[in-house]
Amino acid sequence: MGQAFGGKERSPVLAALAIQAVLFAVLYFARPYAGAMLGYAVPLLWLMLTQGVLSGFVTALLRFSWPWVAGQVIAPPLLVLALALHLPVWIFPLILLLLVLVFWNVAGGRVPLYLTNRATSAALLKLLPEKTPVHFADLGSGLGGTLRHLARNAPASKFTGLETAPLPFALSWGLGKLGGTSNLSFRFRDIFKQDLGEFDVVYCFLSPVPMPRLYEKAQAEMKPGSLFVSNSFTVPGQAPDDIVEVADRRKTKLLLWRM
Ligand SMILES: C[S@@+](CC[C@H](N)C(=O)[O-])C[C@H]1O[C@@H](n2cnc3c(N)ncnc32)[C@H](O)[C@@H]1O
Repeated sequence: MGQAFGGKERSPVLAALAIQAVLFAVLYFARPYAGAMLGYAVPLLWLMLTQGVLSGFVTALLRFSWPWVAGQVIAPPLLVLALALHLPVWIFPLILLLLVLVFWNVAGGRVPLYLTNRATSAALLKLLPEKTPVHFADLGSGLGGTLRHLARNAPASKFTGLETAPLPFALSWGLGKLGGTSNLSFRFRDIFKQDLGEFDVVYCFLSPVPMPRLYEKAQAEMKPGSLFVSNSFTVPGQAPDDIVEVADRRKTKLLLWRM
């Protein structure tokens, strides 16, 4: 996510809102002067398009990742569009609530929701020993798709997902009950409150932020010979024992540490 701000980690949600608020105030006071120069009142849509572009620019300058920049650009004009369409007012808190329930771990843990793709799930399956069943954990299991795929294809092994974002957890739990296999389960649990000693393979696809603390925890708790796998995000100062390069479009790298 890369919210640098002079090296300090801050909440990206609050920072994004603060950028919008400051620019809104600046443009609000500048609007009459711009209107006087143009000879007519600046339409609200123009104002919000300008706010979007400027917010995106400032967000990019502060080294936010591109989804944040894109969100900052489109949010103000979308708001005007929603007002123009006379959408009922309760739609805004409802959308906000849904976003919070999905992206629960963005503000606190700096971990958004994005999903492991099929090619990477296939590469994870190849990492599992052919003859010996294992207990595999996905730390932050999102919608549970990775685990459903693995559990179907490795029926002798056991698969456990840990997730605290309410909506993804509810979906993964429900889909697991409806169409999942009996070797699959999901726990509504913070990954830092789970003893990792019960797993043979621990997989995570998080963000750079929790990796140092998580690796320290894995080293303290995981059994000798077990495997810690991180999709894309490394641990500063801890070179992985092996790297699996996945032949997908984003050139995914699975970083492997043998405990
Ligand atoms: C990038 S997604 C990965 C989803 C899934 N593992 C996959 O690869 O498709 C990361 C997930 O970790 C969850 N998460 C982040 N921090 C967590 C924590 N401390 N405890 C439990 N889940 C967490 C987020 O809610 C999010 O769903």
